[in-house]
Amino acid sequence: MATNLDLKFPAIDDLRKRAKRRMPRFAFEYLDSATGQELGVKYNRDALDAIRFMPGILSGELSYDLSHEFMGRKYDYPFGIAPVGMSGVIWPGAETILASGAQRNNIPYCLSSVAAADPEDLAPHIGDNGWFQLYPPADPAIRKDMLARVQAAGFSKLILTVDVPAESRRERQRRALISMPPKMTPSIAWSILTHPHWALAMARAGSPRMKFPESYVDPSSTDPFVHAGRIIRGYPDWQYLADLRAEWQGDLIIKGVLNPEDAVKLLDSGADAIWISNHTGRQFEAAPASIDQLPKIRDAVGDAVPLIVDSGVSGGLDLMRCLALGADFVFLGKAFHYAVAAFTDTGVDHLVNLLQADLIANMSQTGAQTYAELPEKLYKV
Ligand SMILES: Cc1cc2nc3c(=O)[nH]c(=O)nc-3n(C[C@H](O)[C@H](O)[C@H](O)COP(=O)(O)O)c2cc1C
Repeated sequence: MATNLDLKFPAIDDLRKRAKRRMPRFAFEYLDSATGQELGVKYNRDALDAIRFMPGILSGELSYDLSHEFMGRKYDYPFGIAPVGMSGVIWPGAETILASGAQRNNIPYCLSSVAAADPEDLAPHIGDNGWFQLYPPADPAIRKDMLARVQAAGFSKLILTVDVPAESRRERQRRALISMPPKMTPSIAWSILTHPHWALAMARAGSPRMKFPESYVDPSSTDPFVHAGRIIRGYPDWQYLADLRAEWQGDLIIKGVLNPEDAVKLLDSGADAIWISNHTGRQFEAAPASIDQLPKIRDAVGDAVPLIVDSGVSGGLDLMRCLALGADFVFLGKAFHYAVAAFTDTGVDHLVNLLQADLIANMSQTGAQTYAELPEKLYKV
């Protein structure tokens, strides 16, 4: 039976609308905006929409087991929570809510290195569902210490993000006068006061800080936030990757890859898996859609290499599209944050329920019962 939430908020767009009402403007624009004219968002949407399936007939009674093995670990679903920096600005305390939700639903949550919680904070909440995303610290000693802490806190996979060679402009975010951490100008204070749920969450969680890199800041620094930002703003090259590979014994996944030739070179350099992403249009709006690059990268690397995809996934049908085109796992960033901002502690559960119901509803239209059957259900004009 559909729950009340499923009747009133059956789509991710419903969560987005409710989140927008409950969030101060600067927090919503930080979460929601892309860069430039936001063409990257449109390219992702258009490319996903273009993938269609042939309906199945006379399929008999269908049953579903959505669980999925990825790199030697079984998860309850083929999707997880993507790394989002400063989730604590989007909703104060979001990192803990996401970690607990990931563990409850047995899906992975990838913590960002610029989150408002550090790996040690989340360890009691996340169990063995934690992955860790690294923005590359320039100082090798800091990198070494960070990796040791991540591993000791039980995070099993290391994700190196490579699609942020420089800052992007995100004009919509600028217009909302966002600053990190939020500075108490009269307009920001007004925006917080007029969103009491968010204000109360901040009263409980405290003002969000970039906690992990800030732990390496010289205590005498006059602006720890800016200093912390510099710590993780290294400019990695292929040698950096080789050093990281030598230091990290667990699975190493490279995130932000769109070019099949890069994917092959990354695997030759010791990467264990490739995460195809255009950062949901936040970095470079002229980049191709992630989903368009997925089949090309699959062709280039072969069937055995684990491939993750993200950017623009907005429901169960999009999950099905990604899996049909060769993804082994799919991540969602904004959707999980809309869910937390819309419903706080129950947001992750509602979104997981929504995605699994939508995935089953769409798969059953094609007659496919397993993910392996999806490629043959693709509609070819
Ligand atoms: C507000 C925001 C902050 C993000 N911060 C990071 C980050 O710190 N590290 C990272 O690798 N990716 C970051 N991303 C990108 C996500 O990991 C992911 O690639 C993207 O959100 C997936 O697309 P979707 O949001 O359309 O699902 C961020 C995305 C958003 C929306």
